[in-house]
Amino acid sequence: MNILLTGGAGYIGSHVAITLLEYGHRPVIFDNFVNSTSNVIARIELIVNKTIDCIEGDIRDMPALIKVIKENKIDAVIHLAGLKSVSESNEKPLDYFSVNVGGTISLLQAMKKTGVRHLVFSSSATVYGEPRYLPIDESHPTNPTNVYGETKLQTELILRNLSESDASWKFGCLRYFNPVGAHHSGLIGEAPLGRPNNLMPIIASVAAGERGELKIFGGDYGTKDGTGIRDYVHVMDLARGHLASINYLAKVGSHLVNLGTGMGYSVLEVVGAYQQISCKTIPYSVEKRRSGDVAAVYANTKLAESLLGWRATQNLYEMCATSWAWKSQQSKI
Ligand code: NAD
Ligand code: UFG
Repeated sequence: MNILLTGGAGYIGSHVAITLLEYGHRPVIFDNFVNSTSNVIARIELIVNKTIDCIEGDIRDMPALIKVIKENKIDAVIHLAGLKSVSESNEKPLDYFSVNVGGTISLLQAMKKTGVRHLVFSSSATVYGEPRYLPIDESHPTNPTNVYGETKLQTELILRNLSESDASWKFGCLRYFNPVGAHHSGLIGEAPLGRPNNLMPIIASVAAGERGELKIFGGDYGTKDGTGIRDYVHVMDLARGHLASINYLAKVGSHLVNLGTGMGYSVLEVVGAYQQISCKTIPYSVEKRRSGDVAAVYANTKLAESLLGWRATQNLYEMCATSWAWKSQQSKI
């Protein structure tokens, strides 16, 4: 299949591109590089030993999308382009609604005009808000506590309304938990253009000596060691989830599933695993809780397994090892 991959130069998108190419699909990347660089394209090509098409553009530019869809005979879309910082979303709600919701509407209109009806969407576990029970299944109530989460939930609603209005639309909504790690080659990984906010890139940066210490946000949660628990999922497992989803759309139909491992690890457990893998000491201090954080979040992954036949296979050590391989390689550039 020819697959339009919006946001394909980003962290998750670049790993999805590899998985699609290795399977035999033809991804066409569409990205405005607001949080990525075009260097990643050559690295994807090096890993898979194939060329890949990449078009620079903004998803809010509907005529540009129509042109790309027509010229490349696109069969389906995997839509990852978007803004993803929780804190920034609360400061710049208009930007987040414009790109994440407005951009998706522009994409859907371009698809409507060109007769493309299958789309896989990057949603997030943040749509659930504060967990009422664990593990979180897809029936858990949604109640996002930040603007970013609102944009994801509203987009899901648009997709649901659209498929209810016309059965030819098929959507796969993938609610990611905490994507981490990198391709095993160490050639691509998470490379945010600003300062990272997420745990594993910060740990990597401390291990590489770029930062003095990790600040652990809260040591007084009611968890096994007092630190926050999350469901970390390897980005290559996540990428396989997109392949399963796009294939399921073609064969069966719409779905909404969690993508996680079903296992929760504390901040201290992640630090311990990273130290072991990197043979580096990760100095840390325990600070007060970060506003908006919750004690524990992890997924019930049974639906993804039963519908898509998808299950995460890589453990915490593999997540840390590939993150470290990528970080070590980056420091050499
Ligand atoms: P990323 O920032 O690395 O990738 C997003 C890509 O989209 C970037 O390459 C960026 O340049 C591009 N982009 C942004 N706005 C655009 C626009 N208007 N037009 C075209 N391209 C645009 O982020 P990521 O971690 O790879 O996340 C991919 C998707 O997954 C996002 O939609 C994000 O909200 C979602 N998601 C990410 C996480 C996570 O923790 N990484 C968790 C849940 C959901
Ligand atoms: N943490 C620290 N110190 C740091 C950074 C994080 O202790 O410097 C802790 C957090 O308090 C939390 C855990 O590490 O307990 C994970 O934090 P992240 O920021 O890596 O991830 P979150 O679970 O807060 O959020 C992530 C994504 C969101 C997404 C959410 C649910 O960043 O975009 O998962 O999918 F919405």
